Amino acid sequence: NHTAQITVAAKESPLAIGIGERGIFISSDVNAFPQEIREVLFLSDGEMAIISADTLELFNVQGLPLKREATQLSGPQEEISKGSYPHFMLKEIFEQPATIRAALKGRLSCDGADVVFNELKPLLPRLHACERLLIIGCGGAWHAGLIGAKMVEEIARTHAQCVVASELRGCDTLCDAKTLVVAISQSGETADTLGALRELKGKGALVVALCNAPSSTLTREADATLLLRAGPEIGVASTKAFTSQIVLGALLALYFAKLKEIDPARRKEFGSALLRLPEQVEALLRARQEIARIAKSCAGVESSIFLGRRYMYPAALEGALKLKEIAYIDANAYPGGELKHGPLAIVDKRSLAIVCCADKKILDKTCNAIMEVKARGAKVIALAQEGCDVVSALADEVIWLPPQNDPLSTVLTTVALQIFAYEVANARGAEIDQPRNLAKAITVE
Ligand code: M6R
Repeated sequence: NHTAQITVAAKESPLAIGIGERGIFISSDVNAFPQEIREVLFLSDGEMAIISADTLELFNVQGLPLKREATQLSGPQEEISKGSYPHFMLKEIFEQPATIRAALKGRLSCDGADVVFNELKPLLPRLHACERLLIIGCGGAWHAGLIGAKMVEEIARTHAQCVVASELRGCDTLCDAKTLVVAISQSGETADTLGALRELKGKGALVVALCNAPSSTLTREADATLLLRAGPEIGVASTKAFTSQIVLGALLALYFAKLKEIDPARRKEFGSALLRLPEQVEALLRARQEIARIAKSCAGVESSIFLGRRYMYPAALEGALKLKEIAYIDANAYPGGELKHGPLAIVDKRSLAIVCCADKKILDKTCNAIMEVKARGAKVIALAQEGCDVVSALADEVIWLPPQNDPLSTVLTTVALQIFAYEVANARGAEIDQPRNLAKAITVE
């Protein structure tokens, strides 16, 4: 009387066991479970489960029986489908007005003056004592963190630094109980982000996660989580989760500005600008065909450089990452001021330069960068705020963005660059949702 058994064990990667009426499901990600699964058991490192048709036994690291309450998945599991879109990535790009609204909902007052994070209330005494923010993340989440750190410094006048999580590991980074670590991750399962978080927690830091996956390892290990509320993101190239990470960074900057008693009028001005973002993204999405026209004219290039200064440098990094990931075009991003320190040597008449010009504070300097690359024969596509005529006089093509303040123009710039990368990849016939050599969640080092 032989019963088939499956034995599973967790080691340095997530392991979730979904319990439903039709049986037991095993996955590294709850999004893979059928919709009816509402109860999930998460195994920690070294734990094991033996599963048969009608039994489920758990064991701890020592091999002793383990009792664990199942986690109830909150809210209805969203249906995962492309709808009428040819790719998940395009659908997710077009969801951004809604996902940005969801990220703001109930957190930012109607006049933009006040931010409420109920999730952070239990941490208030420690947050008041915080002297600096250390933001960590990988890939796109690192780029969002770079933008977040700049906003916290500018809006909340609080020291903030963003370090790519894999580079922080083993570095014995200075960090103590007065450091707030902000760990950014769409999946909440990125091995390097979790590894860095554990090192910093070991030094006494308080950890707040900005995460899209409510039941992920990151949300279980952080002291508090601010959910991105972007809904499941299926395309490997992050789009809606990335812009929600910037929005959460902006809200966090406003939250700290209040704690640090920064002038309410300044906070209100920034908060009101944040409230305008969803409509501005809608307007930008209506310009898809124009961006597609420009993108198609670039489909034949094999290498490109992205330039930006101040807030636009991380936006350039993100634009280059999107183009690399899905169009397989060599794309490197540089701070505009670094051009003369080396990168200019590779620019010639075969080059494509994408110049992010939506930071008005240093626009004249960014324009210098356009002139430098134009003088070497490069084709220049600029992204600029409507009304910046100086840019149209210099660039070959301009992608116009609705007028916004400099920090939040990063959202508009990156949405335009998502569409650009998508249209280039599409014109090249590339595999968009699952690019070669990449995975959605990087659960290994
Ligand atoms: O799940 P995470 O946000 O932690 O993932 C981090 C990166 O792996 C991710 O942003 C990656 O760079 C994306 N494919 C970018 O589009």
